[in-house]
Amino acid sequence: MRPKRDSTAPGPAVVDDATRLDGRACAADLDARTAHRAAACTEAGVQPHLAVVIVGDDPASHVYVASKVRACERLGLRSTRIEHPANLDQASLEAIVDDLNADSSVHGILVQSPLPSHLDEEAITDRILPSKDVDGFHPVNLGRLVQGRTDGLLPCTPSGVMELLRWGNVDLRGKRAVVLGRSRIVGMPMALLLAAKGADATVTVAHSRTEDLAKVCAEADVLVAAVGRPGMVQASWVKQGAVVVDVGINRVDDDTRERGWRLEGDVDEAVADVASKMTPVPGGVGPMTISMLMANTVRAAEACLTKQATH
Ligand code: GUN
Repeated sequence: MRPKRDSTAPGPAVVDDATRLDGRACAADLDARTAHRAAACTEAGVQPHLAVVIVGDDPASHVYVASKVRACERLGLRSTRIEHPANLDQASLEAIVDDLNADSSVHGILVQSPLPSHLDEEAITDRILPSKDVDGFHPVNLGRLVQGRTDGLLPCTPSGVMELLRWGNVDLRGKRAVVLGRSRIVGMPMALLLAAKGADATVTVAHSRTEDLAKVCAEADVLVAAVGRPGMVQASWVKQGAVVVDVGINRVDDDTRERGWRLEGDVDEAVADVASKMTPVPGGVGPMTISMLMANTVRAAEACLTKQATH
């Protein structure tokens, strides 16, 4: 049995068997630093400015966008929300992106995903200027990451996980990390960040076609689940003492809740009996993603200031 930590000290708190990697507390620490940097930019004459484009009426997307706008307000960033009905055509959406690219007051552009199915999301990602791509999804930014250059605009969820692991004093050097999921947005960049110089984990990317998936996961010292399947990772898949990061944010039906649903991660709650540290859902990776978006927007504004100073 590990000793319980003093609950008034900074860092993760001990709950149940696994230490909770508390994304809300970690995000609050990061937000304080981001707000400070944003204020310095504003004082120098450049208020960091995020433009968020949302097409259609997907309720979950509207909730996410509202929380991004609120985070901007809280941290002293300017935000612009551009909303269009689901029947917006590709050329019109591209023209919106072009206008935001050309607007020197805008430092970050985010087009909320998913887009209605008639729109080509990849073409939109490619059209955003890499220097304003605060999602970190543009091929130039992902390509920089492949090259081992981790100083640019990084995808928010994987970089948020790395920050949370640092905050939780998780030692990755030489450890076996398994990333469950190979998406362009989470799984693949997550694997690159874990393997990057400085982090130095030995990484396996597992996915739906992986043979003996449970056995592969059970080799992990650090297991990152990003598959979007509620409760998929079972306690029997997890090595005793492993660190488990749950990226899943799945809406599952729940008649006992007034709203009729609840959020569930990709990791079964019984994993807490086996893991040494674990992220909760909600309140784990989710808050880190928004905080990283804010940090990326401020980084983009700082780059503008640096450019102004050298011209
Ligand atoms: N939809 C859900 N999460 C995200 C995100 O991080 N970025 C964008 N663009 N869309 C999302």
